[in-house]
Amino acid sequence: MSFKITENVTWVGKVDWDLTKFHGEEYSTHKGSTYNAYLVRDEKNVLIDTVWLPYTEEFVDNLQKEIALAEIDYIIINHGEVDHSGALTKLMELIPDTPIYCTANAVKSLKGQYHKEWNFHVVKTGDKLNIGSKEFIFVEAPMMHWPDTMMCYLTGENILFSNDAFGQHYASEYMFNDLVDQAELYRETLKYYANILTPFNRQVERKLKELAELNLTIDIICPSHGVVWRDNPMQIVNKYTEWVKDYQENQITIIYDTMWDGTRKLAEAIAEGIKQADPAVNIKLYNTGRKDKNDILTEIFQSKAILVGSPTVNNGVLSSIAGIMEEIRGLQFKNKKAAAFGTYGWSEKSVKMIGQLLNDAGFEVVNDGYKVSWNPDEVTLDGAVEFGKSFVKTLG
Ligand code: FEO
Repeated sequence: MSFKITENVTWVGKVDWDLTKFHGEEYSTHKGSTYNAYLVRDEKNVLIDTVWLPYTEEFVDNLQKEIALAEIDYIIINHGEVDHSGALTKLMELIPDTPIYCTANAVKSLKGQYHKEWNFHVVKTGDKLNIGSKEFIFVEAPMMHWPDTMMCYLTGENILFSNDAFGQHYASEYMFNDLVDQAELYRETLKYYANILTPFNRQVERKLKELAELNLTIDIICPSHGVVWRDNPMQIVNKYTEWVKDYQENQITIIYDTMWDGTRKLAEAIAEGIKQADPAVNIKLYNTGRKDKNDILTEIFQSKAILVGSPTVNNGVLSSIAGIMEEIRGLQFKNKKAAAFGTYGWSEKSVKMIGQLLNDAGFEVVNDGYKVSWNPDEVTLDGAVEFGKSFVKTLG
C-alpha cells in the first residue's frame, strides 16, 4: 500500500491492523496503529523515516515499487525509536552511503540501537536542506517524546512532518483525518497525548509556541502514526494547546480494585454522593483489575479529581492499584485533587498507603480518606455517600 498526499509527497509506511500492544506491553492499541514513512520527490528525492522492524521486508519491497532505491538522495530520520527506524538497517545495507539527516541525539540513539557508522548529517533548528524547488526546514523537538525527536517542514507543499506529535495509534485504510470516524480519531489522539506526552507538557508547550513564532503556513500535518491531518490541520495544534495546560474537564474518576466486593460497594456509594452533590459532574468508575490501564489513564488525564480505592492485602494494596499508581506517578499529572478509600479486615494500611502514593504522584490529597472494616453495611455505605459529598466540596 502507498498513497499520494500531494503530487510529490507519497505515504510509504505500514498500516498495522494486528497491533494490540505498543511499547512492549505498555500501551494498548485497540485500533491497531500505523508507522508512517514519506517519500518526497523533487530534484532530490527524500525518504522521511521508515517502519517498525518486523515490517522491514514489506517496507523495502513496497518502497522499491515506488522508487529505485538508488534514486533516494537523502534520508531524514525525525526520531530514532524502533517503530520508525526499524527498517533502517536493511535499507542502509542496500544504499549504504545515503546521507541521514537527524539530530545529534538521534545519532546517539541510532548508534546505540544499531551500532552502525552511517553517513550522518547532524541538523539543528533552523537548518535547511534544499531539494530543488523546495526545501526542508528542521525544527528540533526534544522530549516530544525522546531527546532525539525533531520535526521537519517542507516549503512549497507547506507540510509539517511532526513525527510522534499529533499522532494516534489508529489503523485505517482511509488515512486522512477528514475521512475517518471523528469520535474514534479524537479518542485515539487524546489517549496518545495522555499516555505518552503528558510528562512533557512544558516542553510541548514551548515547542508549540516556537512553532507559532516561526509563522509557517501549515496546510498539512503528517505525523508518524495514524492519519494525515489535511482538513483544518490546525485543529490538532489547537487541541494540543489545550492539553499542555494541565488539562482537565468537569470529570471525577474513581478507580478501585476489590477482593470480595466491599471496596466496589464503597466506590459506587462515593459516586452516588458525588452525583447528589454535583449532578453536572461526569463520574467514571473503573475496576483496575479488569479494565484497560491506558484507557483509565486517559480518563484520569481528563479528570479534575480522582479517588483511588483498595482493600488492605498483605499490609499493602492490591497489585493492580499498585501498578497503575506507578503509571500515574510517571505521567506527572498536575492540578488534580485526590482522595483514597478502601476496606480492611485487621490492618488499616491501604488507605494511608494510597494517600501517600497519590501525594508522591503530585496530587493534592484533600483528606485522610475513607476506610471501612470488613464489609460495608448500611451505615458505612451512607458514610461513603457523605464522603463523596464532602469530596465535592473540597473541589471548590
Ligand atoms: Fe512512534 Fe516515539 O516512536
